Amino acid sequence: MSERLFATTTPGLEEALVEECRGLVLQPKVLPGGVELEGPAGLHRTLNLQLRSAGRVLLRVGEFHAAHGRALAEGLEKVPLGHFAPAGVPAVVSCSIKESRLARKDLLEQAVRRAFRLQTLTAGEEEEVPRIYVRLAQDHCTVSVDTSGALLHRRGYRQEVSRAPLRESLAAGLLLLAGYDGKAPFWDPFCGSGTFVIEAALLARGWPPGMHRHFAFERFPGFTDAERSAWERERGRARLGVHLAHPPLHGTDIHAGALGAARRNARRAEVMDALHLERKDVAVLAPPAGMRHGVLVTNPPYGIRVGEQQQLRPLYAAFGQTLRKAFHGWTVGVLAPEGPLLGAVGLSWERTYAVQNGGIRCTFAVGRP
Ligand SMILES: C[S@@+](CC[C@H](N)C(=O)[O-])C[C@H]1O[C@@H](n2cnc3c(N)ncnc32)[C@H](O)[C@@H]1O
Repeated sequence: MSERLFATTTPGLEEALVEECRGLVLQPKVLPGGVELEGPAGLHRTLNLQLRSAGRVLLRVGEFHAAHGRALAEGLEKVPLGHFAPAGVPAVVSCSIKESRLARKDLLEQAVRRAFRLQTLTAGEEEEVPRIYVRLAQDHCTVSVDTSGALLHRRGYRQEVSRAPLRESLAAGLLLLAGYDGKAPFWDPFCGSGTFVIEAALLARGWPPGMHRHFAFERFPGFTDAERSAWERERGRARLGVHLAHPPLHGTDIHAGALGAARRNARRAEVMDALHLERKDVAVLAPPAGMRHGVLVTNPPYGIRVGEQQQLRPLYAAFGQTLRKAFHGWTVGVLAPEGPLLGAVGLSWERTYAVQNGGIRCTFAVGRP
């Protein structure tokens, strides 16, 4: 039996997610907010374990045409939801409607409550309960079950964050957009709690991002012993693929406290031995002699308000000078808030991507000093 899945991602990272899926020999179809995939039974387990830039993996469990209330009710009744969320259990159910003859969301929700007989909670209330998504678009109804649980950026290693934390899935997606494949030297000169450099190390060593955590599918009532054994074998095989070799991986930051958090996070991710973490002002930074190329990806301090952005201009200008002086020949990716700060770096960028970080509209710019 095959599976139909939808892997969500942060808008702006679709290209990275598509590349990752192709790397797993899949043929993703890009839709708003993620990619649709089809593959063999159990593919959802692989995607949860392996995808670095995804937010959730949803499994399609029902699909039918529903142009009127009766078709909707009958279609919903036939969805085999008991395998994932039996009647009576608390669950988060999210309903949405787009361009359909049945236009009232309250009626859709009522039909869903009646058919599924779940104890529905409000989205976001609980992490450990089943999450069901019912979407009616152009009279076509899809019912999906979340197989991930906590969002996939929660790898399990990062328990400490700096002042402006970056989601691990966003960090990994940006590394991929910058073309980082884990083979070249890597540097983050504003490393904070270490998200980029730890994600670079996981990539370099072949650590699957989901290796340190659990997923919603492990709690499905219908998760059989055979599926559990298959899952354990898959994790075992993935662990065998982890290797110790890695290129030089550097994280530097001006604050000792941030570096302490980065070290502890790296230890939890089991990559501390691969990293060089050092206290350094970006203005006086240079790679060791002989390291002539590599990939530098970073997010310098953000200034949200106009005044703060003005204050940060000299720092961005100093960063730009360091790039031109010491990182000539490297590929550089910088995540910065929309606005004039990127210009202060003084590079001509080859590619830019619009992405959101923690609700802030940002630009990720890639170029070569
Ligand atoms: C937006 S945070 C980076 C967050 C990081 N990506 C993470 O995963 O936690 C910016 C970092 O720049 C550091 N910083 C500020 N001025 C600096 C300077 N002159 N040189 C180096 N680092 C600096 C701050 O200490 C802060 O940790």
